[in-house]
Amino acid sequence: MASSSLSFSSLHHLNLETPKTFRRRRPTTVLPIIASKDSLPPLSATSADIAPIVTGNSSPNLPLRMIPGSYGIPFIQPLKDRFEYFYAAGGRDEYFKSRVNKYQSTVFRANMPPGPFIAGNPRVVVLLDAKSFPTLFDVSKVEKKDLFTGTFMPSTELTGGHRVLSYLDPSEPKHAPLKNLVFFMLKSSRNRILPEFEATYDELFNDLELELAQKGKAFFNDAGEQAAFRFLGRAYLSSNPEETMIGKDGPKLISTWVLFNLGPLLRLGLPWFVEEPLLHTFRLPPALIKKNYQKLYDYFESSSSPIIEEAQSLGISKEEAIHNILFTVCFNTFGGIKILFPNTLKWLGRAGTSLHTQLSSEIRNAIKTHGVKEGEMLFGYQPFATKDPKVFDRPEEFVPDRFVGDGENLLKYVMWSNGPETEAPTTANKQCAGKDFVVLITRLFVVELFRRYDSFDIEVAASPLGAKVTLTSLKRARV
Ligand code: HEM
Repeated sequence: MASSSLSFSSLHHLNLETPKTFRRRRPTTVLPIIASKDSLPPLSATSADIAPIVTGNSSPNLPLRMIPGSYGIPFIQPLKDRFEYFYAAGGRDEYFKSRVNKYQSTVFRANMPPGPFIAGNPRVVVLLDAKSFPTLFDVSKVEKKDLFTGTFMPSTELTGGHRVLSYLDPSEPKHAPLKNLVFFMLKSSRNRILPEFEATYDELFNDLELELAQKGKAFFNDAGEQAAFRFLGRAYLSSNPEETMIGKDGPKLISTWVLFNLGPLLRLGLPWFVEEPLLHTFRLPPALIKKNYQKLYDYFESSSSPIIEEAQSLGISKEEAIHNILFTVCFNTFGGIKILFPNTLKWLGRAGTSLHTQLSSEIRNAIKTHGVKEGEMLFGYQPFATKDPKVFDRPEEFVPDRFVGDGENLLKYVMWSNGPETEAPTTANKQCAGKDFVVLITRLFVVELFRRYDSFDIEVAASPLGAKVTLTSLKRARV
């Protein structure tokens, strides 16, 4: 995952919606363009202060409109804006919504946190509608370099001194071989994904049931993260990390490392006078987690031999390969699941018994008659879908069958993967390499859930990364 949208940045996206930031390609490059949820046609920026934008379709004959908004007094205004973004009522969403209202436009200029001293340039053009957003995927127009987490790039000391794949623009020579390496890892794990998912999530739900029986409730996130890392080791690397030196420490080591990467974008819920100097003004010193990172590195070094060999045949050194594998597994994949699965449970749990009954019967029938195949549509579920009311009815609501039947036509507007759901990642674009893997495992998660249970209840609490979900009941399948 990577970071994206108005609201976030998971490890790709904090709530799977991280700010996606791109620079417009030279010669017209002046400003990073940040897009959040949905967005627009080519921006013809001509100077830092005036950037006309083509409205409607991208025909050059259409009138150009000035982009509203301003950046204010340097240094002072970015600090004030950062304060508003993190601590004002309504938080990040309101930061953008209030500007949409003020400028009566879904495209405007604004400062994007963290700003000083972490990000050299906080000035961005924000794109917030379904029409403008795809501009950001057109690599002939935008440069996607060193902007993975927003307007700043975490220190390369956190990735062994390397600019890993997520920081590279497709025009850079290492982008293609490194992306091919991720495709290789995914491809070579294809026969392990289904059995290892089933085995691991069976263990998880057995443990959760036991805890629920003993304590009356079961906190999902911690056990879910243990299961996620165990599954990824087993599926990607044929190696259960819990049976190596790393033991059960994996999720904790990764979460701390991610905090060092994404701290400038996070709210941990501490008082502002602690969070501001600690997280948003200066970088946390990478030296503090060097030892933790080394433990993860050692695990990947000892468990990734076939992938390392492939890397070497692609001209990538062993060391660079390991840092990249670590990043893809820990940040891209684990970071994504850490937020995605609790959110999936949250939306399904809140939807209530009638959806549970419908899903359990659909899923059990599908398993009985056909098995569950890769690419099969059980239902369309995108909790982080774009929310443009011109495209989506009831955009703020979770509508479980939104993307089923005729709704499949809407999939082109689902852009969580840094590209439309109807397109594919390639070495020439910056679309998420794990796009189909993520959809597959999310379906498998729902399948596992409703294969075992008729229904369930949850309690939900807020968390800096997604949602904290506690199971308060699991009703075992009666059939
Ligand atoms: C919930 C899970 C995930 C989410 C939300 C997510 C989201 C994203 C997004 C938004 C980007 C583009 C970032 C940017 O440049 O702005 C991205 C890139 C990337 N993702 Fe994911 N991702 C997820 C899981 C995965 C998985 C499972 C893998 C790998 C197997 C993966 C590998 C990558 C890679 C390698 C890139 C960089 C692609 C490139 O530079 O061309 N991601 N992801």
